Amino acid sequence: MGLTLDMGNLKGFVKDADLAALQPRLQKAHQDLTDKTGLGNDYLGWTRLPSSIPDTLLDELTALGKTVRAHSDCLVTIGIGGSYLGIRASLEFLRGAGGFPVYYAGHNMSADYHAELLQTLQKKNVTLAVISKSGTTTEPALAFRILKEFMAKKYSGAELQKRIICVTDGKKGALRQIAAQNGYQTYVIPDDVGGRFSVLTPVGLVPLAAAGVDVHALVRGARQAEQDYAVADIAANPCYQYAGCRRLLYQQGKKIEVLASFYDNMVSVNEWWKQLFGESEGKNGQGIFPASLIFSTDLHSMGQLLQDGERNIFETFVSIARVGSALQIPFDAQDLDKFNIVAGKDLDYVNKQGQIATAAAHAEGGVPNMTITLGRSDAEHLGRLYYFFERAVGISGYLSGVNPFDQPGVEAYKKKMFALLGKR
Ligand code: PA5
Repeated sequence: MGLTLDMGNLKGFVKDADLAALQPRLQKAHQDLTDKTGLGNDYLGWTRLPSSIPDTLLDELTALGKTVRAHSDCLVTIGIGGSYLGIRASLEFLRGAGGFPVYYAGHNMSADYHAELLQTLQKKNVTLAVISKSGTTTEPALAFRILKEFMAKKYSGAELQKRIICVTDGKKGALRQIAAQNGYQTYVIPDDVGGRFSVLTPVGLVPLAAAGVDVHALVRGARQAEQDYAVADIAANPCYQYAGCRRLLYQQGKKIEVLASFYDNMVSVNEWWKQLFGESEGKNGQGIFPASLIFSTDLHSMGQLLQDGERNIFETFVSIARVGSALQIPFDAQDLDKFNIVAGKDLDYVNKQGQIATAAAHAEGGVPNMTITLGRSDAEHLGRLYYFFERAVGISGYLSGVNPFDQPGVEAYKKKMFALLGKR
C-alpha cells in the first residue's frame, strides 16, 4: 500500500488554491534540492542516498549482523542526536525486529543510567557500535571511554577488536584516530550527509543490521520514496503537499505541530522526527515547534489542551493500515461495561475509530490535521517514511528561507559547558 496523505481535516484552513499557489516557490525549492543550488548544498547527499547505497554494502552488513549475533548476547550503540535517534526509532517501530537485545549509551550523561548499564552488561557477551560523525561529541566520547575500559577488562587482542565497531568520518576526528590506533573495524559516514539525515547511512544501517533488521527492505522502501517524491508538481506529490500545508498553517499562527499516533511503536520515530524538523527549521527566529503525542494514552492527559487550549497547534497523525496482530474483543455475558457493541471486533478497529473521531473533534475545535497512513509497520514502510520526512523538511526549510542543513545553535551550550570544564 505504501504511504498516503489525507488532508480532509484541513478544511477551512488550507484551500486547494492556496496550496496550488505555492507551486512556483515550491518549484524553486525542488530545483534547488535537485540541482544543489540552495543553501547548505554541501549536505544534500541524503537526497540520492537510497538509490546510491550499493547492494553489496547491504549484503556485507547483513553478514556482519549474523556474525555479531553469533558471538554476542547484545549490542550496545553509543551515540547521540542523529547518531542515536534513528536507530532507536527503527528498532522500536519494528518492535525489536529479531529480538536481539540492544542497549543505548552516550545519549545522556546520567551516571546512574550508565552505571546500571555496566551492571546489566557484566555477565553478557557484548559488541559495541560507537557512532559519531564528528568523532568529538562529548556525550558519546565519555560513554565510549567508560565502555572501552569495561570491554578491555573483559576481552583482549583480536577478541576485543572484533567487538568494537566504529562508525565515523572517513578521515578526521578523534574516533577515526582511536579506531586506527586500536585496530577496530570502521564504517564511513558520507561527508555530504548531516547527522539527522543519516539513518540510511552506516550510522543506522550498521547497528540495525547487527540487531537483525532487514536493511535491504528498509532501503528498498526509501528507494521507492526517492523515486515517488522526486515529482515537482505539488498536486502529484504528497510529500510536497505535507511541506506546503505546514507552511500555510504556520503563516496562520499554527506554530506547534504535534506528530500524533494511535500506535505505540511510533514513540521513538516521533523523537527522530522532532530532531529532523526542529534542528532543520528552528533558526533565524522562526520555525514550527515539533511536539509529539501517543494516543489514546496522551488523550487522557493532553486531550483537553488540544481540544480547547490556545489555537496555535496543528496535528499530523501517523497511522498504520494493517497492524501485525489480530486481537478480537471477547463477548461478555454480563456486559456490565456495555461494550458488547464491539464484541467480536478487532481491537485495532476500535483504535482506528478512536483516531477518526479524535481527528474530527480536533479539527472542529480549531486544530487542523492531516493523516499519513503507512501500509504496515515493517522495515520497507519505515524506509519510505524516513525519506518522506527528510524530503519534506528539505523543501519546507527552503520554503521558509532558512538553511535546513546546518545547526549553528547547537554549539552555544557546548561552548559554555567546555568553558566550565576548562576544555580548550
Ligand atoms: O544533527 C546533528 O548534526 C546532531 O544532532 C548530531 O547528530 C549529534 O550532535 C551527534 O553528532 P556526532 O555524530 O558528530 O557525534
